[in-house]
Amino acid sequence: SVQAIIAPSILSADLSCLAAECQKLMDQGADWLHIDVMDGHFVPNFTFGQTVVKCLRKKVKGFLDCHLMISEPQKWVKEFHDAGADQYTFHYEAVENQEQLCQQIKETGMKVGIAIKPKTQIDENLQKLIDNKLVDTVLVMTVEPGFGGQKFMQDMMQKVEFLRNKYPTLNIQVDGGIVCDNIDIVAKAGANCIVSGSGIINYPEPQKAISYMKTRVEH
Ligand code: DX5
Ligand code: ZN
Repeated sequence: SVQAIIAPSILSADLSCLAAECQKLMDQGADWLHIDVMDGHFVPNFTFGQTVVKCLRKKVKGFLDCHLMISEPQKWVKEFHDAGADQYTFHYEAVENQEQLCQQIKETGMKVGIAIKPKTQIDENLQKLIDNKLVDTVLVMTVEPGFGGQKFMQDMMQKVEFLRNKYPTLNIQVDGGIVCDNIDIVAKAGANCIVSGSGIINYPEPQKAISYMKTRVEH
């Protein structure tokens, strides 16, 4: 089976002391740090870019899982690689030639992630990319991308179940509205990689949320 990975989204952290917040999450048991990059165009919100990733890289040892909610993600691969990103997850909807972008990311040595918005279905082309081993992680969004703290969309579990059934060893990531109270739903559907922002950072004891989620996913 596949490894359980808990990836807190730093969007909900105190961004005025981001490196310390990231270090704290790693000390609290985070496996990856999920970094939400937004451009105010692909999604109606702004966050931060590769300059922030580069600063974090110098201070934090963890796996930097970058979720690019941006238009033209093919233009920023080198910048994020140079900044020290470990995974580059682009949105399937944001490019015409996904295969080419997967290759481009792979050539840098970064892991390749493909994210799909709630209305995007898993089509033949996406399955072909997975079949051809071009994708390390498929990110099934469980909210419309753009903001933390939204409500989990349970109907997205159909996509997770389909993927897990077809790909027993694929890294399947879920992102949006995931908290301790619904972790069993995503784990049962077959997700192994959990992104949670407010569900971890706003929890009274974040390390307990991380370890609870992890045991439920490993289960
Ligand atoms: C949404 C982002 C998510 C979000 C998760 O656009 O991609 O990573 O920050 O935050 P919560 O867990 O609060 O929904
Ligand atoms: Zn995200």
